[in-house]
Amino acid sequence: MGTALITGASAGLGAEYARLFAADKHDLVLVARRRDRLEALARELQSAHGVTARVVTADLGARDGASRVVDEVKRLGLEIEFLVNNAGFGTSGAFVELEVGRQLEMIQVNVAALVALTRAFLPAMVARRRGRILNVGSTAGFPPGPFMAVYYASKAFVNSFTEALSYELRGTGVTATVSCPGATATEFADVAGNSRSLLFRLGAASPAKVARQGYRAMMKGKPMVVHGLRNKLTVQSLRISPRALARAVAASLNPRPAAKAR
Ligand SMILES: NC(=O)c1ccc[n+]([C@@H]2O[C@H](COP(=O)([O-])OP(=O)(O)OC[C@H]3O[C@@H](n4cnc5c(N)ncnc54)[C@H](OP(=O)(O)O)[C@@H]3O)[C@@H](O)[C@H]2O)c1
Repeated sequence: MGTALITGASAGLGAEYARLFAADKHDLVLVARRRDRLEALARELQSAHGVTARVVTADLGARDGASRVVDEVKRLGLEIEFLVNNAGFGTSGAFVELEVGRQLEMIQVNVAALVALTRAFLPAMVARRRGRILNVGSTAGFPPGPFMAVYYASKAFVNSFTEALSYELRGTGVTATVSCPGATATEFADVAGNSRSLLFRLGAASPAKVARQGYRAMMKGKPMVVHGLRNKLTVQSLRISPRALARAVAASLNPRPAAKAR
């Protein structure tokens, strides 16, 4: 059984993906910053399923984060058959007021590390004519997202990049899939500061269900999967909506910065 490398495995969807791979008897490389969380998950999966789960701590927001993961995988002599680029975060607020370093860090984690890891592991997958890539995009990747502007744009990148890659990979034995969850009950909303936004007040999906759907789609080699009927309808209606309406609706779902006294 091939080894699966999962980024952002210390919480939320990433931990659920790890559980799914382990249940199917795949060995694991678990990547994130919080070592204690990763080690606890590795112990859980090793004892429940008898797989080997290795922990690699890395800050994918650092410029050398992805290459450190690649070097560690090489050092361990592992062949990665499944790559799950799941690590990511968002921030909320008016772009002009947000700290630029954190915005650039988001692009590094959500976009640059995903591209770097994909590019690093893909050639060996193609040479073996076997491999699966799962990138976690978002329904946020379809409209522009005022008050979470960089986050939405980063997910637009992930959605677009992965669909294009899946096309390029036809006939190679390797597939790329983008999973597009809507609001999901993980640590995401607390980190992004939008747990009280209309989007999350409308309800959040179970991470176990979202991960199961993404996992199945990846195993079937589907280019894209959108989670849940409400999200599917939203994505379809965005295709025919005027862009001005899409901007306004997305803005209404995101937390608005408190009105400033003039
Ligand atoms: N939850 C939602 O509503 C939702 C909706 C659509 C898409 N998504 C996407 O789903 C993916 C998983 O998020 P989640 O919902 O499961 O959120 P989460 O519970 O906050 O988990 C995020 C994971 O990313 C890791 N991560 C964040 N920054 C990192 C960094 N600098 N270096 C390495 N790892 C980092 C975190 O690990 P450490 O903190 O330990 O480093 C954690 O394991 C993200 O790409 C997110 O954008 C989420």
